Amino acid sequence: MRIRSATVQDAEDAEDFVRAHTGLAAVPYVPEIRLRVIAAGATRDAGEDDRVYELWERAGRLPFWACPWAGGQALARHVLDHPEIVRGRTVLDLASGSGLVAVAAALAGAALVVANDVDPYALAAVGVNARANGVAVRVAGGDLLDGAPSQQVVLAGDVYYEEPLARRVTPFLSRAGGDVLIGVPDRACSYLPEGVFEPVGVHDVPAALEDTPSKRTTIYRLFRTT
Ligand SMILES: C[S@@+](CC[C@H](N)C(=O)[O-])C[C@H]1O[C@@H](n2cnc3c(N)ncnc32)[C@H](O)[C@@H]1O
Repeated sequence: MRIRSATVQDAEDAEDFVRAHTGLAAVPYVPEIRLRVIAAGATRDAGEDDRVYELWERAGRLPFWACPWAGGQALARHVLDHPEIVRGRTVLDLASGSGLVAVAAALAGAALVVANDVDPYALAAVGVNARANGVAVRVAGGDLLDGAPSQQVVLAGDVYYEEPLARRVTPFLSRAGGDVLIGVPDRACSYLPEGVFEPVGVHDVPAALEDTPSKRTTIYRLFRTT
């Protein structure tokens, strides 16, 4: 299939696009949060792939923002179950997608949450989803990976799924001055580097768009020697 590239006219157009192509549903592993999604459940339904391809074609890139990924679900659960991680602190949700982790951080009492993604439709989805859950999340577009995070906590759900991104994410996270937590599903292709992170929790996450209905997903903390 040939995917044409599309331009986003403005933020309002993008939010309309998000609303037009998704429905509001509770996140399976984090039911206290509802998101605009095309696929949320653990059971693959017949039209799921078609809906992904349709959105891919219309938006010009894969609609990562239209589904709560296993890494994000586990990380959002972890943050809500351990609100002290973010309470009263500034938080960056890197590669936010739907904004699930950002919304969880805001619900858990973070002082300020910034959601970053390179996809303008993701930024629109974050705005729509934050409002649907009654929280404030600041969106930041563009690629931040050559810089250093300024927030006290950095969260990243499902960012080790492709090698080029993984190669840039690890140095970025290592430049953070505060706590760093990531959620990483067990997949045949995972580019998590060795010796950088230590596991702090494991979850079996009902996840859509995966090869199995449930994905074992690990929460890791950036390993620091000092
Ligand atoms: C698998 S999705 C994960 C979304 C969300 N964190 C979750 O777990 O549901 C990966 C996300 O990474 C974003 N992404 C890819 N390259 C990026 C970059 N250089 N900086 C920020 N986000 C990026 C994509 O647009 C996509 O939204």
